[in-house]
Amino acid sequence: MKVTFITGNQHKVKEARGILQQFNIKLEHLDLGYPELQGELTDVARYGAKYAAKQLGTPVIVEDAGLFIKALGWFPGTYSSYVQDTLGNEGILKLMNNVQDRYAEFRSVVGFAKPKTEPEIFLGVVGGHIAHQEKGKHGFAYDPLFIPEGYDLTFGELEREKKNEFSHRKRSMENFAHWYKNFIISRE
Ligand code: IMP
Repeated sequence: MKVTFITGNQHKVKEARGILQQFNIKLEHLDLGYPELQGELTDVARYGAKYAAKQLGTPVIVEDAGLFIKALGWFPGTYSSYVQDTLGNEGILKLMNNVQDRYAEFRSVVGFAKPKTEPEIFLGVVGGHIAHQEKGKHGFAYDPLFIPEGYDLTFGELEREKKNEFSHRKRSMENFAHWYKNFIISRE
């Protein structure tokens, strides 16, 4: 069983491959490039999956994710990519200076589409806290800032296999994998 993942992010590919192989789903990767709408994660994933499936004429998945910080009105949220490239982690730490409530969530949405049907979407969320300083060299982007609930370490301090046990991406990909297995079986 296999599926094609459309993304330009190699970190996501490695994480998704590790997660989906537990479900015996082989991940093929293609960096097709698709228009990323500015909007809700679900809309971005739905649109991207539909666009890529049509372009390729084959079923695909895409994934859209972001960091949502409660005290900042859930910023950067859907602006996560832009904010990472401009303010960076240092900028987030400045915004969080003297902020007591450091609750945050990583959210992930996987979109699956076939060329001629409407996309399916799958959500994954992990709660945690924003650290007071960057820690760790693993992962990417906001990982060194995010301490998942129940841990003292940031995602940046966790090996990929550990992050993959309970990350937002693990949860959305797992939801997709369960659905996909039934979907494939129902076609056989
Ligand atoms: P994208 O639009 O799904 O590529 O994700 C938006 C941005 O969210 C990325 O550019 C990263 O800055 C951030 N992001 C998404 N997932 C993760 C993660 O697992 N760890 C750290 N940052 C992430």
